[in-house]
Amino acid sequence: MTNRFGVGARLFHWLVVLLLLVQIPAGIAMIAPGLEQGSIDVLFVLHKGLGVVLLLVVVARVLWRLTHSAPTMSEAIPERERRIATVMHGVIYGVLVVVAGSGYVRVVGGGFPIEMMDVLGLPTLLPLMPEVAEWASLVHRFSTFLLVALVSIHVAEVLRHHLVVQDATLARMWPPLGGGSARPSAESKPGQGAP
Ligand code: HEM
Ligand code: HEM
Repeated sequence: MTNRFGVGARLFHWLVVLLLLVQIPAGIAMIAPGLEQGSIDVLFVLHKGLGVVLLLVVVARVLWRLTHSAPTMSEAIPERERRIATVMHGVIYGVLVVVAGSGYVRVVGGGFPIEMMDVLGLPTLLPLMPEVAEWASLVHRFSTFLLVALVSIHVAEVLRHHLVVQDATLARMWPPLGGGSARPSAESKPGQGAP
């Protein structure tokens, strides 16, 4: 049987993927040269609002993950590879928190509004701290580059497993909903469940 991740973990995974697919292009586009002011404003409002949603979703996802262990990986995958994958996943979680957190510090610490949160009447959680905000801007930029690099390696590795090795790695995280927590496969032990 294939050890699939539980529905909670799969939903969080694909929700974050979906949000990042909007958030990263919006972030790049809004600081691109030559864009008219109206579009810049719309993209900034979107990026900051969605960024806070991502921050909350990422924190909830990390808390979920800390309380729900991952299903055992196939023993057909060499031990060293399994260990590297586990470390890589932990680093991706950490970088996600840094990216979203630094964006928040950059904006709120710099004294800028987050319009979508203001509409909802949500309070700002940080004092004005312009110097820290400047550093946070730098951290935000470079941690985003790191995230894109790590996720590219992550996706390439999943595709290698799916297309070249042809094992059930992708099926551990797909589909986002339903599909049960296990499906028949030759390579893993019976009786292993997903959280
Ligand atoms: C996982 C969440 C996030 C991702 C992936 C992301 C991604 C990006 C990207 C790709 C850029 C352009 C790169 C650059 O600065 O050169 C950017 C810039 C920016 N982001 Fe985010 N962002 C996220 C969360 C946030 C949050 C939560 C806020 C604020 C509430 C925010 C505010 C900004 C601002 C103001 C900029 C313009 C550059 C600056 O002034 O530092 N971002 N972001
Ligand atoms: C775009 C941003 C993405 C991020 C931030 C991301 C992040 C992660 C993280 C943190 C894990 C570890 C799960 C855990 O142990 O709790 C994971 C697992 C996984 N991801 Fe992604 N992922 C992304 C995109 C993708 C895409 C596009 C695919 C499919 C092509 C994919 C397929 C998988 C699979 C199959 C696993 C399970 C790996 C295993 O444990 O065997 N991910 N992902």
